[in-house]
Amino acid sequence: MAEEQRAEAREARDTEGTQETAEGPADREERKNGVTRQVSDELAENMRQGWADTERRDLAPIPQAGHTARRRAELSARFPGERLVIPAGRLKTRSNDTEYPFRAAVEYAYLTGDQTEDGVLVMEPTGERGHEATLYLLPRSDRESGEFWLSGQGELWVGRRTSPTEAERLYGLPVKDVRTVPDLLSKARGPVRVVRSHDAGVEAALTDKVTAERDEELRVFLSEMRLIKDDFEIAELTRACESTARGFEDVVRVLDKAVATSERYIEGTFFLRARVEGNDVGYGSICAAGPHATTLHWVRNDGPVRPGDLLLLDAGVETTELYTADVTRTLPVNGRFSPLQRRIYDAVYEAQEAGIAAVRPGAKFRDFHEAAQRVLTERLVEWGLLEGPVERVLELGLQRRWTLHGTGHMLGMDVHDCAAARRETYVEGTLEPGMCLTVEPGLYFQPDDLTVPEEYRGIGIRIEDDILVTEDGNRNLSAALPRRAEDVEAWMAELGVRG
Ligand code: GLY
Ligand code: MN
Ligand code: MN
Repeated sequence: MAEEQRAEAREARDTEGTQETAEGPADREERKNGVTRQVSDELAENMRQGWADTERRDLAPIPQAGHTARRRAELSARFPGERLVIPAGRLKTRSNDTEYPFRAAVEYAYLTGDQTEDGVLVMEPTGERGHEATLYLLPRSDRESGEFWLSGQGELWVGRRTSPTEAERLYGLPVKDVRTVPDLLSKARGPVRVVRSHDAGVEAALTDKVTAERDEELRVFLSEMRLIKDDFEIAELTRACESTARGFEDVVRVLDKAVATSERYIEGTFFLRARVEGNDVGYGSICAAGPHATTLHWVRNDGPVRPGDLLLLDAGVETTELYTADVTRTLPVNGRFSPLQRRIYDAVYEAQEAGIAAVRPGAKFRDFHEAAQRVLTERLVEWGLLEGPVERVLELGLQRRWTLHGTGHMLGMDVHDCAAARRETYVEGTLEPGMCLTVEPGLYFQPDDLTVPEEYRGIGIRIEDDILVTEDGNRNLSAALPRRAEDVEAWMAELGVRG
C-alpha cells in the first residue's frame, strides 16, 4: 500500500472515532475515498479470515505493578472527589507522514507502567474518598471491518497491540476502549483535572471543565511525588548508570575512528549501546571535542576530534522503563592530559568531590552547589583570573563567567526530573533518602574570551555523576567510570588509547 494511502487511513482513524470498527466494507469504501476504492469485495472478504488467536493468557503483572498502585493511591488521597485525567500523549509528526519515536508522558508511565501511545488513565472519584482507576487503550485491530490492514494505525502497519485483557493482567487495572474517552469526558460532571500538553484531543473534550491553575496543581503534585525514588526506580537508575558506563567504554575504544571522522562517530557509538540495552538516550548526547566543550548543550556533534584536545562527553542511557542516567566525563583524546588541562581538570574534580561530600539527608539542596562553587572560585583566584577575596567573588557571583551553570539537578524519568516541583520542595528544599541528583561542576573558557590567557581559551571541563541520597550519606551510582585524572588516563590506556 502506498504511503499516501497509509496517511489517509491514519487521518480517517483520527476523525472516525468509535464508528470505525462497527462499519462494513461499503461504508469504508465511501469514507476512505481514495484508499479503499481499490479493495475488491473478494479481497476484503479474504482478509477477514484465516487468522490465529494470538491472545496471551500467560502474562504476569509487570514488576512495578505494586509501585504504580501505591502511587495511584497517593494521588487519590491528595485529590479526593475529583476526576483525574492523565494521558500518555500522541504521536508527533516529524515530517509529512513520518513520526518521532513515541515516548509516553512521564506522569502516565509513572502511574501505570504502560507506555502506549494514545493511552489515557482516568481516575474516577468514588464518593468522598478514593478513586477507581481505569486505563483507556486502543484495542486490538478489528479484523471484521478490515481496520487492521486498511487503517494507518492498524496492527498490520504499526505492530500488534496489547489486548485489553492482556493489559489488565499486566497493569492490574480495568481496561476500556480509548475511543470512548472524548465522549466520557464531555459528559462528565463534577471537578476534573488533566495533565496538560500531552493530548490535545483529551484537552479539547475538557475545555469548559478545567482551569490552568487547578491542572498545574496536579502537575506539581506528580512532579513532587517523584522527588523520592522507590526501590524499583533506584534499581532502574542503577541499571541506567551501568549501561551508560559501558557506553562510555565503547566510545573510548573507538576514539581513533572518531579522530578519523568526527564527533558523529561518538554520538552513534553511544547511541548503539543505549538502543541495545535500553529504550534510547535520555537526552541528546553532548559529544563536544576541543572548543565545542565550552558550549553547554553542544548537540550538533558534527565537529572534528583532534589528538591533544579534550572530549567532553555528556550522555545517558535511558532504560526500557524510561529512567535515565546523566553522566559526563572529560577525556584527553590522546589519552594524556596536558599540564594545563590537568590543572583545570583537577580543580573541577576537587569541586565535584566537595559537592558530593555535601550530599546527605538533612542538607539543603543548595549546599552541594555552594561547596563546589567555593572550590572553583578559590582556584580561579589562585590562578589570577579573578581578584580575591574569595568571599567577595562569591557574593558577587563573578566566578560564574566560567562556571556558568548550577551544579546539579534531580534525575529520574526526565533528565531534569521533577521540574514542576515548587521551590520550597526542590531548590530551596532539604535532601532526603531516595532523592537522586547529579553533581556536575564545570569550568568553561570560551574560545573568544579575552579576559583569560590564550592557553585557557577553548578548554571546557565538566565531571558529572549521579548521586543517590541514602540514610547515612550518599551512593555514587555512576562510580564505575573513573574520575580522578590519573585513573582516567589508566582506564583509557587499558581500553587501547595511549598518549
Ligand atoms: N545533560 C544535561 C545536563 O547535564 O543537565
Ligand atoms: Mn549531563
Ligand atoms: Mn545534568
